[in-house]
Amino acid sequence: MPLPPRAQIVGTGMFVPPDVYTNKDLEKMMDTSDEWIQQRSGIRERRYAKAGIGPSDLAFEASKSALAMAGLKSSDIDMIVFATLSPDYYFPGSGAFLQDHLGCGTIPAIDIRNQCSGFVYGLNVAQAFIASGLYKRVLLVGAECHSRALNFTTAGRDVSVLFGDGAGALVLVPSDDPERGVMSVHLHAEGAHRDLLKLETPAARNWPMVSKEDLDAGRQYPKMDGRNVFKHAVTRMPEVVREALTHNKLSADDVDLYLFHQANMRINEAVMKNLDQPITKSHNNMDRYGNCSAASIPMCLDEAVRGGRVKANDVVCMTAFGAGFMWGSALVRW
Ligand code: UT7
Repeated sequence: MPLPPRAQIVGTGMFVPPDVYTNKDLEKMMDTSDEWIQQRSGIRERRYAKAGIGPSDLAFEASKSALAMAGLKSSDIDMIVFATLSPDYYFPGSGAFLQDHLGCGTIPAIDIRNQCSGFVYGLNVAQAFIASGLYKRVLLVGAECHSRALNFTTAGRDVSVLFGDGAGALVLVPSDDPERGVMSVHLHAEGAHRDLLKLETPAARNWPMVSKEDLDAGRQYPKMDGRNVFKHAVTRMPEVVREALTHNKLSADDVDLYLFHQANMRINEAVMKNLDQPITKSHNNMDRYGNCSAASIPMCLDEAVRGGRVKANDVVCMTAFGAGFMWGSALVRW
């Protein structure tokens, strides 16, 4: 029996809104400092989209770049997988918005709601569709407009300084070469920790979904136990990278490029140290864009590809950790 085809990434794209907010700009809104933000996270600036722009609009621009690189038209795509934690509407999903913006007939569109691990979860879905033969040209996007749900007062400073808006997109097709493409995706979740990083309202557990009391208590903003999230991230990320390496009979040295979720440069440095790899083998952009959750890894991938850091047959390792807790890794032979 022939092996199912691997999903090959044939196009990448990214888009960020033009408006830059530096740490100095945030200093004017809350009691924080450029020094604190840079030292604790590695972030210097981020982008915020204007009102009226949603994640699907950012995803649209990123998708056009990915399609152009792939040499495909939007009408060639037969499935959209859209990862976001900051959807355009509560429902329908942002995939429906993007499907309409792109004008790709009546193809299906799925939303993935796995927060900072949304991209690796989405990659597994896209890969499985291609391996099963159900769909042949899948557009996978991660896109976020975090700026809508950030508390820009001192009460929200622990979270608000970290996040930014942006989108990344990939086009995946069945690989002609059995060695090249997505080699594996390993996913995990540990829902017992769901309260350590959350945005509680609007919530279908509550009636009404959002009350005045909720708004007064700031439940429309994310809450994070940063130290605890950090501690789990620096354990789970190297663990799931090793799981991928063992599965593929590779060592950490065999990886040509590491791409991480962009939450905190100290986390990414700790993971590379744990794997005994130099930080120069990773590509990071949180200094310029902050944490863009599901968009972080595809944005890094697009920069790395366009910057000439990924060559044919290179092994690229991607890993993410975030709310849920949820985490995962993917290995791709380019
Ligand atoms: O993307 C999803 C996954 N997310 C992550 O992986 C994030 C993981 N966590 C982190 O990256 C880090 O925990 C943070 C960057 C969020 C925080 O860094 P930290 O070194 O863990 O700082 P901390 O939360 O322990 O806070 C240290 C101090 C506190 O003051 P006291 O109690 O020591 O007086 C905070 O109140 O820093 C204070 N602080 C701030 N000061 C200036 C918290 N936020 C700020 C701020 N500006 N924005």
